[in-house]
Amino acid sequence: MTKTGFGVDVGGSGVKGGVVNLETGQLVGDRIKLLTPQPSTPEAVAETVAEIIRQAEWNGPVGITLPSVVTGGVARSAANIDKKWIGTDARALFSDALGGRLVTVLNDADAAGIAEDALGAGKDAKGVVILLTFGTGIGSAILHNGVLLPNTEFGHMEVDGKEAEHRAASSVKEKKDQSYKEWAGEVSRVLTRFENLLWPDLFIAGGGISRKNEKWIPHLTNRTPVVPAALLNTAGIVGAALAVETGIAP
Ligand code: BGC
Repeated sequence: MTKTGFGVDVGGSGVKGGVVNLETGQLVGDRIKLLTPQPSTPEAVAETVAEIIRQAEWNGPVGITLPSVVTGGVARSAANIDKKWIGTDARALFSDALGGRLVTVLNDADAAGIAEDALGAGKDAKGVVILLTFGTGIGSAILHNGVLLPNTEFGHMEVDGKEAEHRAASSVKEKKDQSYKEWAGEVSRVLTRFENLLWPDLFIAGGGISRKNEKWIPHLTNRTPVVPAALLNTAGIVGAALAVETGIAP
């Protein structure tokens, strides 16, 4: 029998969950999506996650992402969710809301990185892989031969006097009404800085804008190969499920 797991991806606008085939990274059945409660307090989000698990009739362990730095199960930052998350023991909160079962809580980009590295665009890659999610901000994950170094926040690195995500998140392209080529110039600047410090073998570009990769990846001028993410909007769910299965618990 194929091994399955369950992942939940908590974002600023939606909370998405599903049963994952842990060998292929495909979802088994439908993805369940509920709106993120507003305000997105820890208690309200925990109730939404519990509702997804009820609807899915899932009884096993659950991996859950947050748009936060997570250390020792505790959220340390909160991007696009309620600031009450900061300092919340998210692992204990979700476990209580789910009847005391085993849960893992990790950063959203870390989950996407785990999934893309193992079963997506990086599955044949060796060495150091960096996944970046281009959205409202820039999320990051770095893996070496499949092992994650959790909670990197490269999107906040200062690049030529500005935070990387204030230069090259996809939200900046929209706000400044830039062409793909103009925006790719800023992405190249950010990737060049990252590669000069970290020397990755591969960058994987995730986030909604990776669907339009043919419009901007060819304009990039940095050295390291950049490939689009393969799992797209399921990467967080898949990575969360893999994390709880393999005992990754930052
Ligand atoms: C946050 C990261 C998060 C990323 C994507 C950034 O602004 O600092 O923790 O992974 O947004 O949600």
